[in-house]
Formats: sequence, structure tokens, C-alpha cells
Amino acid sequence: MSKPKNDGRVPRTAIAILAAGKGTRLKSKHPKVLHEVGGKPLLAHVIAAAAKIVPPSDIYAIIGHEADRVRQAVAGTGIGFVLQSEQRGTGHALMVARQALSPYDLIIVLYGDAPLITSETIEKLRDFHTGKKAAMTVLTAELKNPTGYGRVVRKKAGKDDVLAIVEQKHLSLAQQKIHEINSGFYAFDAQPLFQHIDQLSANNHHGEFYLTDMAAILSKAKQRVVAVQASNAYEVLGGNTRAELSEIDQHMRLAKCQQLMADGVTILYPQTCVIDSDVEIGTDTVIEPFVQLRGSTRIGSDARIGSYSVIINCEIGDQVLVQTGCVLEHSTIRARASMGPYSHLRPGCEICEDAHVGNFVELKKSRLGKGSKANHLTYLGDSEIGERVNVGAGTITSNYDGVNKYKTIIEDGVFVGSDSILIAPVRIGKGAYVAAATTVTEDVPPDSLALGRARQIIKEGWAKQKREKAKAQKAK
Ligand code: UD1
Ligand code: CA
Repeated sequence: MSKPKNDGRVPRTAIAILAAGKGTRLKSKHPKVLHEVGGKPLLAHVIAAAAKIVPPSDIYAIIGHEADRVRQAVAGTGIGFVLQSEQRGTGHALMVARQALSPYDLIIVLYGDAPLITSETIEKLRDFHTGKKAAMTVLTAELKNPTGYGRVVRKKAGKDDVLAIVEQKHLSLAQQKIHEINSGFYAFDAQPLFQHIDQLSANNHHGEFYLTDMAAILSKAKQRVVAVQASNAYEVLGGNTRAELSEIDQHMRLAKCQQLMADGVTILYPQTCVIDSDVEIGTDTVIEPFVQLRGSTRIGSDARIGSYSVIINCEIGDQVLVQTGCVLEHSTIRARASMGPYSHLRPGCEICEDAHVGNFVELKKSRLGKGSKANHLTYLGDSEIGERVNVGAGTITSNYDGVNKYKTIIEDGVFVGSDSILIAPVRIGKGAYVAAATTVTEDVPPDSLALGRARQIIKEGWAKQKREKAKAQKAK
């Protein structure tokens, strides 16, 4: 392991994120820290906040339950991992991480299931700690209902110094009146922490090594232990139950809407919109009620996103109009194009500038060129469509023979009449014309007409005769 650098002034700082727990109360087969709020895993939010304070190589996630899955989910961030194969408590988690963390001067402890923590608050905790020359600093919050949390017992009310942290189950009657809770986030000087950590015992209700006991241990050893309150009590909330996860999610999404509105985006009825944390939107774009914008979706300026649209990992240009009820996935929509109502882009589509995709049109892995239109009831799969092409109502690419997928190529300026079936692989040359209701099985040369439907037959008087015959039969 490479030693962290120290220029002599700034303490070498590591951030440890406790993420080994199972999350029994979620009743889930997925590890707790991979449950999502704001569209990404709890742990990913904590890492993002931590990475604003120290480089990823100085962040360590302590993992245990489903360790491989957790590691895989956040490996892309470049952080380090410590395996706590048996979860014997929050104190035990740091004992296990001793080797990774002892080369540092300062250790900040965060929780992988408390995703609302901001980099500003982590900074506040760090600066308070170094300013007070403390061995341990506890981040606290005042909660109306502190039930379930550890309580912070200060030496004197209103003073910084802390005597102990007492878990809910061990509270005395007097201590039950304390509303200042332990967030579980701390700053520690590494040296006194690891000098005294072996004094932790598992002699308590849960038979666990409580990290909280370090407050009393260090305090007894004449080391300074202080507490600082988070400016916003929300930041320390953990997601232990589905209900708590939902509360955190709502809080996060409303904050996201407020941030977007502050940046110049109009959001009608933000309470009804589900916008993931990493979504970006340009100024003067309007988001109508009941819209979902998910993943890494980016939307330009002056666009409009209609109600009930669900947009996942898409890149949407300036002045694009997405009308009501579109489902758009992993695709690119360029400037001034219009979509919907009720269009579906499956992954891998590119809709070019000024193109139109209309009612009940589905595209998959297809490119619709500049100014081209597919306005009604159409399926275009594995297609490359040039510029200024008109795709008539009910056109279908037959791109799949049950085993393989084939490409349809439609060159610039082609007119495809309504209800045509294009049986791939097939190419329709530049400027060609496909008559309505044609089944195209062979390539169409440029500028030609393809006409492939049965010739119409007229039988005069046929319908009238049929009616009269039926009438005569009834009269019998
Ligand atoms: C802990 C604190 C409590 C505080 C509360 C705030 C202790 C003993 N108590 O209680 O004072 O008010 O957080 O939310 O610390 N974890 C591990 N390895 C373990 C055990 C836990 O990584 O062996 C992780 C969990 O995954 C979780 C975090 O540590 O992310 C907290 O553990 P949890 O068991 O939820 O502690 P609480 O009972 O909530
Ligand atoms: Ca917890």
C-alpha cells in the first residue's frame, strides 16, 4: 500500500465508510448500501461527498455482507476496500481497517447507509476537530424523536466536551431526555484511536464492539472528545427501513428540483417529478408534471418534456420537444427534434436535428436522419435512415427472422408509403418511392418506384347480391 503524502502542514486524511452491514430491517436479498435513493446506490452518494474532500485513493469502504457485489457496484470510483468478513460491530469495523488507516493522521468515519451527508458538513467536522485539537469529534444532530439513536452526553450543557455516547438500550432515565443524537460520523486522530481501540469490549446487549464506546475510553484517557452539530439534521439520516429510504429519496429529489429551478429550469409541480441526482438540464427548459428523468440523462436549453414521459440515460439537445407519454432509453435526440406523444426509443437510437417521431412509433438501434419523419404507428429496428425521409403510417421493418437481426438502410429523400413492410436486409436507394402497402423484399434502386402489393379487383354489384341472397334466405 502506498503511503499517503504529507507536506508537513495538512494532516494526512482518510475517510472510512462503514458499509459491511446486512440491513436486516430492509428484508431484502440485496445488500443495504446498494439500495437506491435519488437514482443511485446509497454508498455511491457517500463516496461522491467524500471524494470532494480527499482523493478516492484515500477513501476506504469497509465491506462484508455481499462484499463482492458492493465492491463491483462502486469499483469505478477508484476507492479502496477493507473486508470485514464477520460484522461484530462498528468498533470492530475500524479494528479490521487498522492496517489501511494507521498510516494517516486523521480519520473521518462515515456510514454507507447515510447518503444525505454533504461535503460541507464533512469539512465542518474536520475543521472543528483540528481547531479543537481533539482526539475524537462526534457529529451530532438535535432530533424531535431521538428514539433508536445513541445519545451524546456532554460534560456540561452547551460545552464542546463529551463524556460518553450511550446507546438507546443502555440509557438511564435522565439520559432518555437527551435529544442530541450521535450521527455515527466522527473524526479521529489515528494515533490515540489505534492506541486505545483494543480497550473496546463486546460486553453489551448486542455482543458487539461499539465504536461509540471510544468516546468514554478516550475521555478517561485524558484525550479530548468533543461534539459538533450538523447544520441540517436531515444530513445524518440513515436508511434502515424501506420507509426511511423513501423519506430520504423524496428529500433528495425535491432538493434536486430546487437546485435545477435555481439554475433556470422551469419545473411544474416538482413534487410529482422524479429526477435522479446526476441529471443535467439547461436553462429555460420546461419539465411538465409527472416526468421521470433518470440516470445520466442530459437535456439542453429551451426544451420541453411532456407529462408522463420516462427518460433514462438519454442525451437531449436544445429546443427538443418531447410530448406526453414518451419512453426514451439510452438514446440521443438532437436539437429541435420532436417526439411523441407516446413514442418509444429503445436503446441505441439517434434522432437527428429537426426530425419527427410521432404517435405509437417504436425505434430500436436506429438512426433517423435530419428532418426525417416517422409520425404514426411504426416500428423501425436496426435501421439507418437518411435525411428528409418520410416514413408512412404503419411502416414496419421486419428485422428479425427468429435467429438473426438484419439491417434496413433507407437513403436520403426516400418516401415510404403507409403500411409498407421492409424485409431486412434491404436497402432503399436515394430518392426512391415505395408505394403504400408494399412488401419490400429486394433492394430498391435510387429514384425508382417499388410497388409490391396485390392488384385490386372490382366485382360490380357483388355486395348488393349478397345482401339480397341473405334476405331471401331469412324469409323462407
Ligand atoms: C450506530 C451508533 C449509534 C448512532 C447510529 C446513527 C454504534 C454502536 N451505534 O447505531 O450511536 O446513533 O449509528 O445511525 O455505533 N457496520 C459495519 N460493520 C459492523 C457493524 C456495522 O460496517 O460490524 C456498518 C453498517 O453497515 C452501518 C453502520 O456501520 O452502515 C452503522 O451500523 P448500525 O448497526 O446500523 O448501527 P446503529 O445501530 O444504527
Ligand atoms: Ca443504522
